Amino acid sequence: MTSSTPDSNLRTTRFPAGTLRVLQLTDTHLYANPVGTLLGVNTLDSFQRVIAHFRDHHWPLDLLLATGDLVHDASPEGYALMADILSSFQVPVFCLPGNHDVPQAMREHLKADRVSTAGVMDRGNWRFVMLDSVIPGEEGGRLAADQLQLLEDALATSDRHTLICMHHQPIGVGSAWIDTMAIENPDPLFDIIDRYPHVRGVLWGHVHQTFEAWHGDVRLMASPSTCVQFAPKTESFQVDEEPPGFRLLALMPDGSIRSEVVRVDEMPHGLERASAGY
Ligand SMILES: [Fe+2]
Repeated sequence: MTSSTPDSNLRTTRFPAGTLRVLQLTDTHLYANPVGTLLGVNTLDSFQRVIAHFRDHHWPLDLLLATGDLVHDASPEGYALMADILSSFQVPVFCLPGNHDVPQAMREHLKADRVSTAGVMDRGNWRFVMLDSVIPGEEGGRLAADQLQLLEDALATSDRHTLICMHHQPIGVGSAWIDTMAIENPDPLFDIIDRYPHVRGVLWGHVHQTFEAWHGDVRLMASPSTCVQFAPKTESFQVDEEPPGFRLLALMPDGSIRSEVVRVDEMPHGLERASAGY
């Protein structure tokens, strides 16, 4: 097991009562066809290996967050499969769409017990705001007026500690090619965040790599995909030599966040390392 985040060994840490233990899974890129591949990798097989690795480590889970690019071909079959897998965790699952999803298809077909595509959810001392940053037909993202209003309302109506989740990165992660596909209007987002001190973190997917930064006291986090990784700090697309993984978050009753990225032990089978794009 490798970890490239500042916190480590969350699974052996004792947390105060009321701590929420959260698993983030992102960029699963499943297909209608279970043998579908992305850059040579069978995404379902890679996802199942990631889940097995998580289960092997027995971290008791309170909540699961799925942050987009759940189904690469946005197929009803892919969403049905994803719903089955997510509901098997037997905890509440909050989902949002990525650029490869079709939000309406996701809401229609990603249905199972405990699996939700709602925008605002509460759990314990925490509020989760699941924003839709998809621009239909485009790879980049934007927070439309209704999403900014949803965030504003969510923050104005509760003083719970809040974790804001979206698919696209709201700040550059340092890779020129993928930062052209970031949230194109981050300013109104951070204007809202700056007015509500109970915002504790922002969490996203899309970049297929670990990223950590701070905006004042707000922790900013991105996470590896469950299939193919993108190399950090590159001008153009480059596959990374890192295995797939997931992120654990311990959301404490006092509003602090501990978080760790965990990767499986092996590179995914069939990975086309020299690929120039996806
Ligand atoms: Fe993705």
